[in-house]
Amino acid sequence: MGNKAFSYFLPRLCVILFVILCVGLLACNTPEGDPDTWDTARPLHDIYRNNFLVGNIVRDTNCFNHATRSGILRRHYNTVTAENHMKPDFIAPSSRPANDTWVYRFSSADTIVNAALNAGMKVVGHTLVWHSQTPAWLTRQNNGSPLDKDTALANLEKYVTEVVTHFKGRLIEWDVANEIFRDGLSGTDTIDWRNALRMNDSGWNTAIGPEYVELAFYYARLADPEVKLIYNDYSLNNEFKARAVYNMVKDINARYPNVMGRPLIDGIGMQSHHRIFTIPRSVEDSIVLFSSLGVEIAITELDITAAGRLLDQSNPPPWNETAAQRQAEQYAAMFKIFLKYQSHINRVTFWGLDDGTHWRTLDGSGAHGTLLDRNFNLKPAFFAVMNPYGF
Ligand code: G3I
Repeated sequence: MGNKAFSYFLPRLCVILFVILCVGLLACNTPEGDPDTWDTARPLHDIYRNNFLVGNIVRDTNCFNHATRSGILRRHYNTVTAENHMKPDFIAPSSRPANDTWVYRFSSADTIVNAALNAGMKVVGHTLVWHSQTPAWLTRQNNGSPLDKDTALANLEKYVTEVVTHFKGRLIEWDVANEIFRDGLSGTDTIDWRNALRMNDSGWNTAIGPEYVELAFYYARLADPEVKLIYNDYSLNNEFKARAVYNMVKDINARYPNVMGRPLIDGIGMQSHHRIFTIPRSVEDSIVLFSSLGVEIAITELDITAAGRLLDQSNPPPWNETAAQRQAEQYAAMFKIFLKYQSHINRVTFWGLDDGTHWRTLDGSGAHGTLLDRNFNLKPAFFAVMNPYGF
């Protein structure tokens, strides 16, 4: 081979080597394959498999029959919470039962729970005792005044026992009590947690008094000693609400240190309905506070409002690229905190599969709070959650 052949082949060889190098580099940058769509991106639950469970909610009973929704759920999440179908409003008899045999409406919840279990997912029960989405007859007379204490106590015991028994062996956790504390607490309100409870808007507290909280946990433990029992609330990055929850869990677990082998309350659920303005440090402070109780922490309802009237009533910021970027940065900031405290956090559940079905979209506030847009495209927030440190 002479100089001529050499000068013919060398440049071509260089081009071929260059192309191979480029393809190799590209492949290295995307080891999970093309991350542009929900069905090719690396599963979120796999990314966090050594850290915590990653969950989302099921809105409709037929969710597992919907090709896309079911596909997204199965690919990216390993834990499911029913958005509404396990609440007392959906499960308890809708009107006052005539006798001791209560006819529950379990079929929708059972459909969701069994479909999730068949898909190999874990299931969280949400929720047993709440001031909202609860039939009035459980705590009130027909004229609206509170039931006498004994009747309300009997209702509480029967409802909690029978519902927990029905789902026994199928759930990993129950949000036993939800949102028992009122908003706008001050430091003095929280010294005795009982003074921080919702008053007139809580049927259970009005009829029974503060002991309804520990009794709900107690009946749940007796009915299913295996399932973890969680206290769940929003705005737990508010220092006063966090202090009320801390004092309540500390007090109840001190008085019930060993109910069927362990303290009565297993964990605290931080709902985490955040905004792009939420100060991440406030979230971290509450995680540190709750960790000191030795209970586990679950992030139970994560979403981040990035636009709309919730951020500014008179001048709602629009959903645009800037909002998407800020939302992604906020998700990244939250996940860095969750990773930092991963030894205390057992689960991170998002409250919404996509912006189209997100509760804050349906209530008209235009929050765009989830990881996928209404056409199931991955938003910058999704990539932030995939890789919070690299985002
Ligand atoms: O079931 C009725 C249906 O019969 C009726 O046709 C329809 C018409 O609006 O309303 C249906 O009820 C709605 C229900 O969701 C089921 O879709 C209610 O109006 C609606 O208010 C209710 O909203 C739910 C809300 O809890 C109720 O408080 C949201 O979907 C759900 O995301 C939200 O979830 C709560 C958590 O449980 C606790 N933490 C806060 C979180 C967000 O608010």
